[in-house]
Amino acid sequence: MGTEEAPWWKRGVFYQIYVRSFADSDGDGIGDLRGIIEHLDHLAGSPQSLGVDALWLTPIFPSPLADCGYDVSDHTSVDPAYGGLDDFDALLDECHRRGLKVILDMVLNHTSCEHPWFLESRSSRDNPKRDWYVWRDGRAPGKPPNRWRSVMEGSAWTWDERTGQYYYHAFLPQQPDINWRNPAARRAMLDACRFWLDRGVDGFRLDVINYLHEDELLRDNPRRMGWRPYEMQKHIYDRCRPEDHEVLRELRSILDAYPGAMMVGETFTDDPAEAASYLGNGTDELHLAFNFDFAANRWSAARFRRSVERWEALIPEKGWPAYFLSNHDMPRHITRLGILGDAEARAGVAAVMLLTLRGTPFLYYGEEIGMPASRVPRGKLRDPVGIRFWPLPVGRDCARTPMQWTAGEHAGFSTAEPWLPADKSFPVRNVERQRKDPHSLLNLYRRLIRLRKETPALQLGSYRALPGAEKGVFAYLRELGGHRVAVLLNFTPRDRRVDLRGCPGKGAWRVLLSTRGPEGAETDPAEIRLLPDQALILSR
Ligand code: GLC
Ligand code: MG
Repeated sequence: MGTEEAPWWKRGVFYQIYVRSFADSDGDGIGDLRGIIEHLDHLAGSPQSLGVDALWLTPIFPSPLADCGYDVSDHTSVDPAYGGLDDFDALLDECHRRGLKVILDMVLNHTSCEHPWFLESRSSRDNPKRDWYVWRDGRAPGKPPNRWRSVMEGSAWTWDERTGQYYYHAFLPQQPDINWRNPAARRAMLDACRFWLDRGVDGFRLDVINYLHEDELLRDNPRRMGWRPYEMQKHIYDRCRPEDHEVLRELRSILDAYPGAMMVGETFTDDPAEAASYLGNGTDELHLAFNFDFAANRWSAARFRRSVERWEALIPEKGWPAYFLSNHDMPRHITRLGILGDAEARAGVAAVMLLTLRGTPFLYYGEEIGMPASRVPRGKLRDPVGIRFWPLPVGRDCARTPMQWTAGEHAGFSTAEPWLPADKSFPVRNVERQRKDPHSLLNLYRRLIRLRKETPALQLGSYRALPGAEKGVFAYLRELGGHRVAVLLNFTPRDRRVDLRGCPGKGAWRVLLSTRGPEGAETDPAEIRLLPDQALILSR
């Protein structure tokens, strides 16, 4: 396949913007769409830019914020805190002018309990929208219909006094699940997707897309071992139901009518086989699926290699892999993977891996400057999970602190007190400073993205793990039309050697990029030396 024929979402690099925390243009302490427009130079279109190709915006829709925007009360407008539809159109235009695609985060599984649909649905048992949500009688007085748990804890059922029934919510009680078996509700949700496609968006990130349907008979899940009640069930009846695939096939046919439109699914499961199943035959369901197994690895060459090989084997022939290391629901990877080691150097190795594997990389805002998982003081927490489980480190505010633009007040994010405090690292760790430092993480990301763009083998080449590396090194080959690129990742704090003589092709290997030490030099394939925590990209 020539690089020109491959769709943009296979070649490009995505960048996830947590809208509330990226840039505040109007001084209310909350990030907004105009703020993004003002900072687009950081992302694309100027020589200093990172060079990413697409943005994923976390939900921009009106929301009472029970779950920070994932409780939507109107799917076809913009929350006034972020701007209006005109601001959205301006953002979309400005992005497209720079060659940047934009995808929106659609929350199809549930709505806010303040959504007009739910207000109607809960108003009486014979309201026409009653069946738009999942209402059931209890199995006995005071007992919910079954033992399903909410991902956020507690029963997944909430008793509603007025109509004397329970409603189902896979997440918070403020996030009632849509009944995807109801044709009118289903149509309304798909129409919301059409609304944004008609407005020109390039696709969607689909929130918990494997949660749409629940078992019709509401059968209880089998038990299993786990560290908290939700984990102590095997979720075979409350998620990953076969009917979800049918919805995805319908959505795919809708998207196929919009040239270039794509969707990536938050396939929320630790089983990669389950996640990959939502790619269908590679052309009829999701374009890309998130692999949580990859992001869950600890810092180990063998672990990452195993995850990659497993994922590669599961991707249908016409499908395409995707990778991420951080998002808004987990502690940032520089902190997570940096434990007991040189976190900064490991972040460089991780960046090389993410941007050179076969698959579309998703970056999370701030990872390019190594923003850490922040310690948000108890009184400032906003995430319901963090508040509920404090002091257990399961809250998600740590990954949602303001983007660190400068060493100035509030990290240059806002002129006002931000909705979450900026991490204390911002005076030394910020975009302005890293831009000037050729050895910064930011400049490594920029160089990597540029190299990827100039090197078709890195975008579209095949993947193959390489033998000949000492323990603790993850080494692989990317190959396209006779051009070979070798990636060597040293996961250890010690010198390591790799023997590349078993590689196909002839001639010397040239160093295209190194996270430390010289570049450009030719090396002896029999003994390539890696410094501690070093990543090398070579070509022949
Ligand atoms: C997804 C989102 C998460 C949200 C949940 C419920 O997992 O990423 O932030 O809480 O769905 O919508
Ligand atoms: Mg559901």
